[in-house]
Amino acid sequence: MDGNGRWANAKGLSRVAGHKKGVDSVKNLIKGCLQHDVPYLSIFAFSSENWSRPSTEVSALMELLSSALLHQSKKLHENGVKLTIIGDTSKLDPSIQRLASEAIALTSNNTALHFNVAINYGGRWDIVNAARTLAQRVKDGEMSVEDIDEESFGSELATAGIPDPDLYIRTSGEYRLSNFMLWQAAYSEFYFVDTLWPDFDEDAFTEALYRYTHRDRRFGAAEDKIKQT
Ligand code: IPE
Ligand code: MG
Repeated sequence: MDGNGRWANAKGLSRVAGHKKGVDSVKNLIKGCLQHDVPYLSIFAFSSENWSRPSTEVSALMELLSSALLHQSKKLHENGVKLTIIGDTSKLDPSIQRLASEAIALTSNNTALHFNVAINYGGRWDIVNAARTLAQRVKDGEMSVEDIDEESFGSELATAGIPDPDLYIRTSGEYRLSNFMLWQAAYSEFYFVDTLWPDFDEDAFTEALYRYTHRDRRFGAAEDKIKQT
């Protein structure tokens, strides 16, 4: 999700107003996923690098997060949405950690959509964490070095149990990953779009899905090989 600040600037509003409007886009996106039977949705809400923004903006983002957890959890639950959070949440305010745990527990058995929110997340952090866990396991004699493969590594990432993303969307005309799901995006289809995040509405999402259906996914195999199988 990118472009909240530029959206607000262009309208002569504060950056925080852009973030507020961005929350509406997330709500629309959840609705869109439910409508189109998209089973998993992950959003990058706050990166481990976002702490370096002005403290007023960081506080406003935390306030929005807290308010969303407080006011939207029930609605998510009613719509059959399961919430998970990835990232180092230990750095968040204890009140937010508590609200997050409650929302996660409330929605844990839902199956209509798995909505995964990355907060204080970084792709490199995720990979380093997995490496550390596996190294510790080897050190403790629980597994051998040879047991480390893509599957065992993937199961130690924050996204364990969530399939790798098929479609990876970045808004606002930036062509980079900015440290989001580096391992997981190995074979994702990328969709970079100029639309600013607050303008990313249901039509914009439908367009992204439509474009995805026209991609030719080969996962490294030759075209004819895929067609034979
Ligand atoms: C996305 O918009 C905000 C977050 C998800 C934290 P930005 O705040 O990065 O907006 P720009 O890039 O300044 O327009
Ligand atoms: Mg940005």
